[in-house]
Amino acid sequence: KRPAGAPSPGLAREVTKVGIVGAGLMAGQIALLFARRMEVPVVLTDLDQARVDKGVAYVHQEIEKLANKGRLNPGKAAKLRGLVTGDVDKAGFADADLVIEAVFENLDVKKQVWAEVEKIVSPECVLATNTSSLSVTAMAEHLEHPERVVGFHFFNPVSVMPLLEIVRAAKTDDATLATAFAVGKQLRKSCVLVKDAPSFVVNRLLTRFLGEILGAIDAGTPLDVANQALDPLGLPMRPLALLTMVGPAVALHVGETLHEAFPDRFGVSENLGRIVEAGKPLTDRDGAIDPEVAA
Ligand code: CAA
Repeated sequence: KRPAGAPSPGLAREVTKVGIVGAGLMAGQIALLFARRMEVPVVLTDLDQARVDKGVAYVHQEIEKLANKGRLNPGKAAKLRGLVTGDVDKAGFADADLVIEAVFENLDVKKQVWAEVEKIVSPECVLATNTSSLSVTAMAEHLEHPERVVGFHFFNPVSVMPLLEIVRAAKTDDATLATAFAVGKQLRKSCVLVKDAPSFVVNRLLTRFLGEILGAIDAGTPLDVANQALDPLGLPMRPLALLTMVGPAVALHVGETLHEAFPDRFGVSENLGRIVEAGKPLTDRDGAIDPEVAA
């Protein structure tokens, strides 16, 4: 069944090569997903070769883990390793049909990335942003071809979370949107079309959820009490473990975007700023708090 608001699948363009700007955690996870599900070449770029190498090494390590678990046979694992490459030079994007940006959550940085990428790619190449909160329309406003810009918002861990928020910006055309939906389907994600409104849908809810927990902490509730209070609900993760996985800096950026848009509805937690400054994980994967960060 066609997702609500998706254009005719017949309008979609074929994607045979993907470029990714940014070689951080989300970028690496996205690269692996494309290689695994679509078996297309994926080129990662970043500001310097060290970051690129780190990103590619992460993907190769994840491929190894999947192979060791028996999820990939040795032949497929070798093929995937060959598909994911990196280069600090974006020249490899010239014949890409889709470029995804997964860089720092800052509108000016993202605008600059797209301006640079637009000089290299073909006019039909779809430009997809993995922003979790910023305006896709604003990101595209100075481009020569804003009609090929679309929001493509994955959730962490990318290989596991089924949802993909697809964002239609003011000038996104039907062929671009249809391509985004076709790719989402090939990646085996559940795609939903969302408005280009601050933080789309999921991060509004998530920011409200984590914001209320952080609000209780700001008001004096001890961290471990707030963190464990929801255990009886059987959520897949404790709230502060979820905050750690999402990344406190990302959560802070999303929170600030929402605070700017709706100051009466979204506050910014003092403790979140402190956790970001600490610069190390607040909890382990089981949700146990690091006393040093908590102090
Ligand atoms: N990276 C990659 N894979 C991971 C992972 C990670 N960080 N954490 C877990 N996995 C994989 C495991 O390898 C495992 O895969 P296999 O089945 O192939 O072995 C699978 O996930 C299940 O893992 P576990 O059995 O170890 O653990 P679990 O059952 O506790 O599930 C979880 C882990 C899927 C992360 C679960 O705790 C969960 O769903 N948590 C909530 C995650 C969530 O809400 N994410 C959205 C965050 S919002 C966001 O990302 C958007 C934004 O813009 C900020």
